[in-house]
Amino acid sequence: MIQITNSNMAVTAIARDVPELAAWIRGRSRSALREMVSLASRADLISLAGGLPDPALFPTRDYARALAESLASDGAALQYRPSFEPLKRQVAELMAERGAPCHADQILLTTGAQQAITIAVSLLLERRGRVVVEDVTYAGLAEAIAPFRPEVLTVRTDLSSGMDVDAVARLAADGLRPAFVYAIPDGHNPCGVTMSLAKRRQLVNVARRHQIPIVEDDPYGLLSYGAAPLPPLRALDQDWVFYLGTFSKTIAPALRLGWMVLPADLVGRAQIVKEAGDLESSSLTQRAVSAYLDTGRFQAHIRALREVYRLRRDTLLKALETHFPPAARWTCPESGFFVWVELPPDIDCTTLLDAAIQEERVAFVPGEVFAMGAQRASNAMRLSFATCASDAIEEGVRRLSRLLARRIPRD
Ligand SMILES: Cc1ncc(COP(=O)(O)O)c(C=O)c1O
Repeated sequence: MIQITNSNMAVTAIARDVPELAAWIRGRSRSALREMVSLASRADLISLAGGLPDPALFPTRDYARALAESLASDGAALQYRPSFEPLKRQVAELMAERGAPCHADQILLTTGAQQAITIAVSLLLERRGRVVVEDVTYAGLAEAIAPFRPEVLTVRTDLSSGMDVDAVARLAADGLRPAFVYAIPDGHNPCGVTMSLAKRRQLVNVARRHQIPIVEDDPYGLLSYGAAPLPPLRALDQDWVFYLGTFSKTIAPALRLGWMVLPADLVGRAQIVKEAGDLESSSLTQRAVSAYLDTGRFQAHIRALREVYRLRRDTLLKALETHFPPAARWTCPESGFFVWVELPPDIDCTTLLDAAIQEERVAFVPGEVFAMGAQRASNAMRLSFATCASDAIEEGVRRLSRLLARRIPRD
């Protein structure tokens, strides 16, 4: 029996047996993803933290109309339903625009890219199997593989050309057959780097030669800011690349709608894995997104998003150039939402975040959140230029640089 008392009352709690949790979750109580979203949503801060698209850019009115039409025109729009085939065909058209044509029967609609990750992981990874990931990568991948308690093999990320594919080739040549290699070739989260074309070709060749699937996570591929985006890995190989897409960054995250493109003979099995998770993604949302795509306004919407986010990226890069200490280094993203900043090794960005919030009311995501295996990224931070307008981005960087000026002597 445990007694918790204060001066006014005594609370008696009966000690009870607690369910024994599975080993992989026992030691964990915090979700880095959830904390990031909370931080990014705080109204009292300038937040350069989350990968949250700016809500002012959501096509709310068009989507509301499409949603109302779907409800009105289909009496069973709220019913349990199989995947909406017309939407698969529309996604196939989007894939063609993305430079990686596919057939509708190679597509599985998912509840966001995050569910697509968990499905890919369940399809490919045995318990205590091996995976190859970059030593800083999307935190949601770590959460998806954790229940399998895998052996995580890490390779470095070059901040101008992406994943160290030579290292992947060496691992493969050593016979360390991983269940898959996880890659974010465009708009890398958190590094904001684009994988070079040479590395894309090399990675696909390694995958084919050693029969290693690649999970290509591509939430940001349609948000590219240069003249000629590179082909996704899926465009270079259709057998070994499992492609994951989403409407979260281009329409809105609350839709929770994404997709996988995989070899047609695996779609049925992927569907079984999905059903274990949620039976089906919202049939109403599938119909509403399809109706929205039918309006033909999505392409103009994407062009407008690219324009706004490109300007914000430029604002962030210019502000860093103007205000940040000379010892800092950062990436120049060609797509996506993120700039990765590296500071001198003695700056710990996890403790810096507390000071940033308390002293300057500004937030970022400390690099440690993305570190895999034994890698440390304590002197790095991820800045997002997606959520705030340009003046807030500039002010945020000014605040951060004041904070850094108190810690890094200018020479
Ligand atoms: C690399 C990456 N993969 C997957 C996701 C999850 O996307 P969704 O909202 O479609 O689940 C995100 C979201 O930030 C991401 O950055």
